[in-house]
Amino acid sequence: MSILVLHGPNLNLLGTREPQVYGSVTLPQIDADLKKLAADRGVALDHLQSNHEGMLIERVHLARTDGTRFIIINPAAYTHTSVALRDALAAVAIPFIEVHLSNVHRREAFRHHSYFSDLAEGVICGLGAAGYRVALQHVLEKLAPAA
Ligand code: DQA
Repeated sequence: MSILVLHGPNLNLLGTREPQVYGSVTLPQIDADLKKLAADRGVALDHLQSNHEGMLIERVHLARTDGTRFIIINPAAYTHTSVALRDALAAVAIPFIEVHLSNVHRREAFRHHSYFSDLAEGVICGLGAAGYRVALQHVLEKLAPAA
């Protein structure tokens, strides 16, 4: 049983990328924090960042057979463009939470639409890196009876 955390394009630059929008925490820090939180509860957590749509899609497909019980995903810019990644999540039918560091609704109009939100179990935005932690806490609580 494991949890999969997926990060979309440009999130590898967190820490230096528009820190006034995305904060100063780096992606390795976020991943290490989540991995520890999960490990403390005896749950395995895998993470992947990619700047390539196809790679994220392939990882979602793999989740169908590798024991993934829940996905936490920040699709980044693919949020607003990717029918293909949406379809992959719908195809594997694994519950997921959509996370955004920034409050996308306070930003440009093109960021207000998400191809994922209507399929997501929940959507968290605007809490910075803490949003991932809130998502994981929810997932761990949901998985607890089976853990
Ligand atoms: C983002 C918001 C997206 O609009 C943007 O393209 C990103 C990051 C966020 O975490 O706030 O790359 O998903």
